[in-house]
Amino acid sequence: MAIAYLNGQWMPPSEAKVSVFDRGFMFGDGVYEVMPVYDGRIFTKAQHLVRLARSQAEIGLAPVMSAEAWSTLLDEAVEKSGEAQALIYIQVTRGAATERSHVYPDSPPTVLLTVTAFQPKTVAEIQPLKVETAEDIRWHRADIKVTSLIANGMIKNRALANGYDDAIMIRGDKVTEGTASNVFIVADGEIVTPPKSQWLLHGITRDEMIRVAVEAGLPLREADFGETQLRAASEIWLSSTGLELVPVGQVNDHRIGDGLPGPIWRQVFEGFQARKRLVD
Ligand code: PDD
Repeated sequence: MAIAYLNGQWMPPSEAKVSVFDRGFMFGDGVYEVMPVYDGRIFTKAQHLVRLARSQAEIGLAPVMSAEAWSTLLDEAVEKSGEAQALIYIQVTRGAATERSHVYPDSPPTVLLTVTAFQPKTVAEIQPLKVETAEDIRWHRADIKVTSLIANGMIKNRALANGYDDAIMIRGDKVTEGTASNVFIVADGEIVTPPKSQWLLHGITRDEMIRVAVEAGLPLREADFGETQLRAASEIWLSSTGLELVPVGQVNDHRIGDGLPGPIWRQVFEGFQARKRLVD
């Protein structure tokens, strides 16, 4: 059963309400996190809490509670929901002001946490995605997980309108990431993913896939690449909490490999399936 925690109160998500003066509503002034629950256990909880704390610090929002208090609250939320396979969303905004002003209010933050059932796709259900490339028109701090996702939404929905499943964004001559995922390519047998920078989110799933690949002895490099290398790749993958790892079979009008999930994708995907059941 989906459940929400809003500013200290538990309720069904449909009953959770915030003020129209909330900075999240007025200015998109907030940060968020999404973490997966597998078999009733929160996977990579500590890493998500570190990123949440970093996002808050980067936008100048004081910590709302300690990592230990978050951890206990998250466990309680999963238990109350009774969901074994779920996604947890945390949204923290700068709270509700009494009038619209760019100046930060002196009010407590708004803290929303939801747990909703979510079943990741099995290998048999995964279809390679068709993506288009798009100019990365986002701001210069894509490393902060902010709630203002207008550019991501515009790029994703234009891709859908053009008959694609998603878009891979390019800034200048460099591939940055998907609209809600990180990007990997396989080039000459080597896995390559753009390095962490201000231009992309430091995905927790990205880190996990890197660990799985390196532990399996697969060659991997964190390096920038452009559209030409993207098109020439034998495999392309997108990673995120919800997608886990999904192959891309087409970029614009160009087929990637034979258009089917590649052998290295399969190896890393399966390695991740094993890892997510074992590691907290
Ligand atoms: N999105 N890049 C962007 C722009 C994202 O929004 C996300 C995640 C990622 C992958 O991060 P992670 O592996 O930590 O989930 C990369 C989440 C899932 C969302 O917005 O729902």
